[in-house]
Amino acid sequence: MADKKAILTVPGLDDPIELPIYNGTVGPDVIDVRGLTSKGMFTYDPGFVSTASCESEITYIDGAKGVLLHRGYPIDQLAKQSDYIELCYLLLNGELPSPEDKKSFESTITYHTMVHEQLTQFFKGFRRDAHPMAILCGVVGALSAFYHDSLDIKNPRDREVSAFRLIAKMPTISAMCYKYSTGQPFVYPRNDLSYAENFLHMMFSTPCEEYVPNPVLAKAMDRIFMLHADHEQNASTSTVRLTGSTGANPFACIAAGIAALWGPSHGGANEAVLTMLDEIGEDSEDNIQRFIAKAKDKDDPFRLMGFGHRVYRNFDPRAKVMKETCDEVLKELGLENDPQLHIAKRLEEIALEDEYFVKRQLYPNVDFYSGIILKAIGIPTNMFTVIFALSRTVGWISHWKEMVSGDNKIGRPRQLYKGSDMRDYPAK
Ligand code: CMC
Repeated sequence: MADKKAILTVPGLDDPIELPIYNGTVGPDVIDVRGLTSKGMFTYDPGFVSTASCESEITYIDGAKGVLLHRGYPIDQLAKQSDYIELCYLLLNGELPSPEDKKSFESTITYHTMVHEQLTQFFKGFRRDAHPMAILCGVVGALSAFYHDSLDIKNPRDREVSAFRLIAKMPTISAMCYKYSTGQPFVYPRNDLSYAENFLHMMFSTPCEEYVPNPVLAKAMDRIFMLHADHEQNASTSTVRLTGSTGANPFACIAAGIAALWGPSHGGANEAVLTMLDEIGEDSEDNIQRFIAKAKDKDDPFRLMGFGHRVYRNFDPRAKVMKETCDEVLKELGLENDPQLHIAKRLEEIALEDEYFVKRQLYPNVDFYSGIILKAIGIPTNMFTVIFALSRTVGWISHWKEMVSGDNKIGRPRQLYKGSDMRDYPAK
């Protein structure tokens, strides 16, 4: 209920319009503009920079302070003290699990990791050189054809089972995308491994040789999953919600989210960071300065990838943890002198002092260091966004579940029409 109201005076209207104001737990108040339509007006907000599209209890971001909370818990505390499976439970259910609940949840996820054998045939329709995100999008969309026993979105148990299936099968399908592109056989999941270890096993084991996951790398992988798990109403999550608002099945909604994530302004940025570091090439101050100049040149479309964020006007708190993890992984692998790490650190240093970046409050985001870690683990660049999608699936499904469980109206934005007024079709 609103106890405050905004008063809007519109030229041409006799009476001012009263718009209710609602308070969140923390963060900005929102003005409820729904009453405007009946007065013959819409709000105008391209890119949704000032629009709260829904009410949510899952994730909170304070972009000015660089704060990210999942169900109230700060991301740096979760990244250091929790793990991805526990975070999945928290995002889905709202509270941390008891030790028994965690065990049972982990076991449920573990026992849903295999995919229907017929799904392996689906991969054969793709070219071997297809981008893994193209395959992932298609295969996840196809899951609704394989698991139609859990598609009644009005049934809480069906929603839960779909959530388990998606979280459990995403690593399997993601690794299959990679194996397919290399021509190696698919590797089945193993129930004795943790979520992150199992993913590395399915990526790197072959029938000829078992991959033994290094605990430091498995922990880094788990952190990467955690740091990408949810980020409130970003482009892909909003896509999942919009798709879900039509009553579409959860697998179709997640496939829509994967498609939205692929763009370089969003989840595609981790791949773009590595491409940029490759383009910079040799670790020299001249090369680095040339790319900084390109990023600042308004006639050049190039942007410093892994920098800037729509919401953060401060350090992305995920980037801080990612940088620490990057140092741990490179130390473990004896790659502390990696030239790309040096270029990345130098880019960060320059950008944090350069007036162009300082004025626009452009800080490194989550994707700036994740690519260097993934590359060191042995993951090919074109799989980076797939790993983002795998990690974000729990966020997407939590938002979908929250929306479908509540009062849900189909998403239907309006527009400012600037085309021709009505005109007659020319006489022939
Ligand atoms: N390099 C150079 N200039 C930049 C950059 C950048 N990375 N990002 C923003 N700017 C400039 C931009 O040109 C504009 O300058 P001006 O005011 O002179 O026109 C100003 O900063 C504001 O930029 P914007 O495009 O209006 O900001 P936005 O909020 O619409 O865009 C963004 C946010 C993330 C798309 C953008 O910062 C960007 O393209 N960054 C690079 C891509 C990237 O790293 N994306 C990953 C985001 S984090 C992962 C995720 O959650 O998806």
